[in-house]
Amino acid sequence: MKPVDLTLNRLEPVPTSWNSDMLKGMMISSELIQKRVGELADEIDRSMPDDKPVVVLSLLSGAFLFTADLVRHWRFSFELDFMGVSSYGKNVASGELSWTHPMQIDLKEKHVLVIDDILDTGQTLRKVTDKLHLSQPASLRTCVLLRKERQQPSEHSVDADFVGFFIPDQFVVGYGLDFALQFRQLPFIGVLDAHVTHTAND
Ligand code: IMP
Ligand code: MG
Repeated sequence: MKPVDLTLNRLEPVPTSWNSDMLKGMMISSELIQKRVGELADEIDRSMPDDKPVVVLSLLSGAFLFTADLVRHWRFSFELDFMGVSSYGKNVASGELSWTHPMQIDLKEKHVLVIDDILDTGQTLRKVTDKLHLSQPASLRTCVLLRKERQQPSEHSVDADFVGFFIPDQFVVGYGLDFALQFRQLPFIGVLDAHVTHTAND
């Protein structure tokens, strides 16, 4: 099944219990996220080879809720681990990644599925997969909930094998994604009001 394309959709009002003057609107409702997560989980389940052990590797912190919801659909056996990654100098081709939480599992000869929250330029996922390839997994695939419509992938980037939604190029928060470590707990994906990002940059 193809990713759900929301690139031309308008924002919806934020559910009243969450109404905050920091949010401009809701991009993806909790119900739509859960429906699509179920579809993605089925798609991944059907395509998962069963000849070798499977490792699911979730990137902290943004993918924590997405991972928690995905894995509850699966009945196949897998080892689950988390790896902490944060990027500095994101707009620079040579931007360094720092590993804030090392993974514990040996990936050699295992089928590895990397889960991240959002793919923007694709540089983060590229650096992560380059590093993981050194451990010689049997296969390495990637899954992201959101993929921003942007420039085509370049030699420094990578596209994801499984994508939940294509979204417009706006800064989103909620369902694990943060702005200054806040908003991760929202059950929906929202868009920040411009005054919030401006204040933070002052
Ligand atoms: P990339 O390397 O440009 O693909 O950036 C991916 C990483 O940047 C993600 O794992 C997020 O941590 C972060 N990121 C990119 N866009 C957003 C956004 O709209 N909201 C929150 N975090 C974002
Ligand atoms: Mg991230």
